[in-house]
Amino acid sequence: MVTLESFIAELDAVVRGGDDADAIVKAVQPLLAELLADQAWLPDLPVDATLPVAHLLGKGDGWSVVLVAFPAYATTPVHDHLTWGLVGVVSGCEVETPYSYVDGVLRPLEPVRNEPGAISQVIPPDQEIHSIFNPLNRPSISVHVYGADLADLPRHWYDVSANQVHDYRSAYAGEAS
Ligand SMILES: [Fe+2]
Repeated sequence: MVTLESFIAELDAVVRGGDDADAIVKAVQPLLAELLADQAWLPDLPVDATLPVAHLLGKGDGWSVVLVAFPAYATTPVHDHLTWGLVGVVSGCEVETPYSYVDGVLRPLEPVRNEPGAISQVIPPDQEIHSIFNPLNRPSISVHVYGADLADLPRHWYDVSANQVHDYRSAYAGEAS
């Protein structure tokens, strides 16, 4: 049986085993798939129907695990991550639109519809800018695994049509943003 504690122990071992982002993401992917398949470990989330809520489930040296509830029909800004990451959908649906620079201009790629069990990934520098949309009339729940505590990273969001970059920092439930 997978528990959050057993997942975190294996994640910590993977991160300690090397610092190549591609290799880490490849190794964490099946661990996260197992965690998504057995949801007995899931905490009860106070889901806000109108705002995204991020609960920090754990963090260590070179990793963090966050449970995110994302409201019905909500869309994130286009944003970066500055570290590797995996997002596994627990319930609901999240449509990810990756973005890529083409001739110095940020352009959307083909959107990907992530249903429960699906895992998407971000790996800097070429695959780490995206936006997320919840197409359903209920919140989505997803597990996010990152190579850092994102609340510590000076990230960015992108006003694509105005070709502008803005500062962006995430916060967890119960913290001032
Ligand atoms: Fe993201």
